[in-house]
Amino acid sequence: MYKIAVIPGDGTGPEVIREALKVADTATRFAGIQCEYEEFDFGGDRFLRTGEALPDTAANELSQFDAILLGAVGHPDVAPGILEKGILLRLRFELDQYINLRPVKLYPNVDCPLKDKGPEHIDFVVIRENTEGLYGGMGGFQYKGTPQEVSTQVHLTTRFGAERAIRFAFDVARKRDRMKQLHLVGKTNVLTFVHDTWWRAFNEVGEADYPDIRREYAHVDATCMWFVKNPEWFDVIVVENMFGDIITDLGAMIQGGMGIAAGGNINPAGVSMFEPIGGSAPKYTAQNVINPLACICAVQMMFEQLGEEEAAASIEKAVVSALESGKIKSMSAGRMGMSTTEIGDFVASLVA
Ligand code: IPM
Ligand code: MN
Repeated sequence: MYKIAVIPGDGTGPEVIREALKVADTATRFAGIQCEYEEFDFGGDRFLRTGEALPDTAANELSQFDAILLGAVGHPDVAPGILEKGILLRLRFELDQYINLRPVKLYPNVDCPLKDKGPEHIDFVVIRENTEGLYGGMGGFQYKGTPQEVSTQVHLTTRFGAERAIRFAFDVARKRDRMKQLHLVGKTNVLTFVHDTWWRAFNEVGEADYPDIRREYAHVDATCMWFVKNPEWFDVIVVENMFGDIITDLGAMIQGGMGIAAGGNINPAGVSMFEPIGGSAPKYTAQNVINPLACICAVQMMFEQLGEEEAAASIEKAVVSALESGKIKSMSAGRMGMSTTEIGDFVASLVA
C-alpha cells in the first residue's frame, strides 16, 4: 500500500489532478497494487487565508509519504515568487529533491513545431540539478533604492551537488540502454569556475565508474540550437539548475507543449514530487478545457520512481493509444476537441 500525498494547488491544478487520479486508479487496479491518497491544501487560497505559504511542519509531514503529486501553484492575487519560492522551491530544498527529471519525448500524433521531426527524433531525458546554482539563494542588495544600488546573486556549486546529479544521470543513461550517451551542458568557455567543477566531476566520475557511457559536452547556447535543429543527437543530458530550467522549457515545446510535459523532483533516497510543468493557468480555471495529459504523465513517472513498472507502462501505453486514436485534436487548452474530464475518462478506459 503506497501512501501518496496530493497537493492539487491553484487554478487548474485540481482539475488535472482529478483526471490523473482517475487514471492512477485504473492503473493500480490493473497492476494489482494499492495507493492511499491524502490531500494537502497548500497553494494561493490557503496563503491568502492564513498568510503562510507552507507550514513549517509540512516537509516533515510529507517526508512520511511514498511520493507527492503536485497539481500547480500560482495564484493571480498572490505576488509572483511567494508561492513558487514558498512552496515549490522550499519543498525541493527541504526534501532534498536534488534531481529535476524531465523526459522530453514526442508522442505520436502530437504536433511538433519543428519541421521534419517526429517521435523518432525526439526522445531524451534532461537531468537538471535541482538544489544549487543560482537557486541557492545566496546574494543580496547594498544601497538598495539609490543610484549606487548593488545586487548579487551567487551561483553556488558544490562538488558534492554536481557529482550526485552526474552519477544519477550516468545511471539513467545506462538504464535507458539507448545511445549509452550522456551530454554535460554548461558554459565552460565563460563561467570558468563553476562549470570547471562540473566538467572535472563529469569526466572523473565517467572515467572511473561509467566507461560504458559515451561522454559528450555542449555549451548551453549551442544546446538550444541543437534542440531545434538536431534533437535526435540527445539521449541523456545533465545540467546545472538555471540552465536546466531554461532548456527544459525549450524541451517542453518540442515535445508538444505544456499540455503534455511532466517532471519529477527526485530524492532517490527519500520522497519525490511529480508535477505537470505547465503551471496553474488561472484563465482556464473551472472551464474543463485544460489538458490533463501532463499530469497523467506525471503519475506515470511517479509509478516508475516507485518501481511499479507495470503500472507506469500501462499508463504510458494508454496515453499513446489515446493519442494514436486521433481523437485528441491538440495539446492546447480549449483546442483539444475533448474536455478535461473526457480525456481523463478516455485515457483511464485505455489502461490495459
Ligand atoms: C520549474 C519552474 C520553477 C523553477 C519555478 C516555478 C520556481 O519554472 O519547475 O521549472 O524555476 O524551477
Ligand atoms: Mn521552469
